[in-house]
Amino acid sequence: MEAIKKTFKITAEAAKGSLVFEAEEGRRLVLALEDNGVDILHRCGGNAKCTTCRVEVLAGDPGEIGEPERAILATKTDLGERTRLSCQVRLIDDLHVQVIRQASVEGIDAGGRPTE
Ligand code: FES
Repeated sequence: MEAIKKTFKITAEAAKGSLVFEAEEGRRLVLALEDNGVDILHRCGGNAKCTTCRVEVLAGDPGEIGEPERAILATKTDLGERTRLSCQVRLIDDLHVQVIRQASVEGIDAGGRPTE
């Protein structure tokens, strides 16, 4: 029997307004967003290289930041302190995030789907 995973409440501010959904513990935030109807960009396929999957964390704990994510974010000067790459965030808490870049808004392909 599979263990029942904990779920968290995710609130996302996106182009079409505010969206609330549940997502499983440990899931990549970028996939949780995409699977719940937010066409967030992830141009490098979830490899901490493009930063198009970035979100602003408005509330909640996005977890520790890893070195690849810290390094790429440090190359950008126009980002807020609470900016994180949603492809690098694995859910450990309820989160409220502002989605920054979406395929439908920018008219470009979202990019290859990141792996689970
Ligand atoms: S940095 Fe490219 S998808 Fe996250």
